Amino acid sequence: MVIFVKGTTDALNRIAAEEARLVGRQVLVTEMEHHADLLPWRHRSGHVMVGLSDDGHIDLDAIEHALETSEGKIGLVAVCGASNVTGFVSPIHEIAELAHRHGARVSVDAAQLAPHHRIDVREAGDPGHLDFVSLSGHKMYAPYGAGILVAPRDFFSGAPEVMGGGAISIVTWDDTVWADLPDREEAGSPNVIGAVAMGVAIETLLELGFNEMLAHEAAVGRQLLRALSGISGVSVLGGAESPAGDHRLALASFVVDGLHHGLVAAALSHEWGIAVRHGCFCANPYVFHLLRMNKDAVNAVENEVTSGHRMALPGAVRASLAPYNTEPEVERFIDAVTHIARGRMKADYEQAEDGTFAPAGGWPRIASPLNTLAARRV
Ligand SMILES: Cc1ncc(COP(=O)(O)O)c(C=O)c1O
Repeated sequence: MVIFVKGTTDALNRIAAEEARLVGRQVLVTEMEHHADLLPWRHRSGHVMVGLSDDGHIDLDAIEHALETSEGKIGLVAVCGASNVTGFVSPIHEIAELAHRHGARVSVDAAQLAPHHRIDVREAGDPGHLDFVSLSGHKMYAPYGAGILVAPRDFFSGAPEVMGGGAISIVTWDDTVWADLPDREEAGSPNVIGAVAMGVAIETLLELGFNEMLAHEAAVGRQLLRALSGISGVSVLGGAESPAGDHRLALASFVVDGLHHGLVAAALSHEWGIAVRHGCFCANPYVFHLLRMNKDAVNAVENEVTSGHRMALPGAVRASLAPYNTEPEVERFIDAVTHIARGRMKADYEQAEDGTFAPAGGWPRIASPLNTLAARRV
């Protein structure tokens, strides 16, 4: 069954709300998860977190061990299809087989995977079948605000988590009769434009061909990883040993010795016009693991942050490639990082209290038709 939702976060929270009603059950998560695939389980249904290999790969033995020792309490294994930090692609069908063998279901957070790999949910009787798949339209080049939750029809029973118009069959003065699924889980005015745009985006990706896009992305991804890890003072999170391809997406998170991640990102934007993300990418435990921080180091950061010093938050810089990125663009990016790592920045930068950096005197105003129009109206 497909339910239209706002995005992956919404989808995972819906599953967690329903899971929370199943008293005594736990959800198994990995240390790799995005906060959207961690917090709903932690705060609604209860979770068991399994560790990863040293370099940040999924550890199938750890998952199996947790399932074996849970005495049937683990009802769901929640795992990302691919990490938004390292691009490592998870062995989702093997994890599904493990989960099913131990009487659990599997939920795949496919936000990062869906734009790059064609996902095969497989038949319900197949041991590698994916019970739940959550994704966000905007990751597939559609507008924000629309997403998909694929779920077994028998999972949602009784009153829905989100209640309102469209979810009912009839409402009397003192009674509510819920509609059938999927309507019951789609209360409120539907995001019709979002759903249509997401459909068109997915059709466009299918027309372009996932295999063709992946082959191109893998080539530029390998170029990115190889060249980045060759810059002195630059370390790629998760290492550069597993190359981009079927098992790693074309993205790289990295740190530059002695330079704050926010400073690197500001210089890339201001001096080179290159947009990257920096910080912990909504995956704090995974980034702490990849930065090899121990519990004491994390506690110290937590104390700083809770006393209002966000500057203390560690992090990395992430460059993500898409099918439209080219080899010369990657070369230019490598050139930029090399300059920055050698301390050859042209501007001065200031750090704000929230930890972000900006050129001294502020960001220049961008000459865009919208800004020109706005200026005329003043
Ligand atoms: C792996 C992963 N999971 C979940 C999410 C959350 O997606 P959304 O913000 O669209 O709900 C993201 C978004 O960055 C992601 O990368």
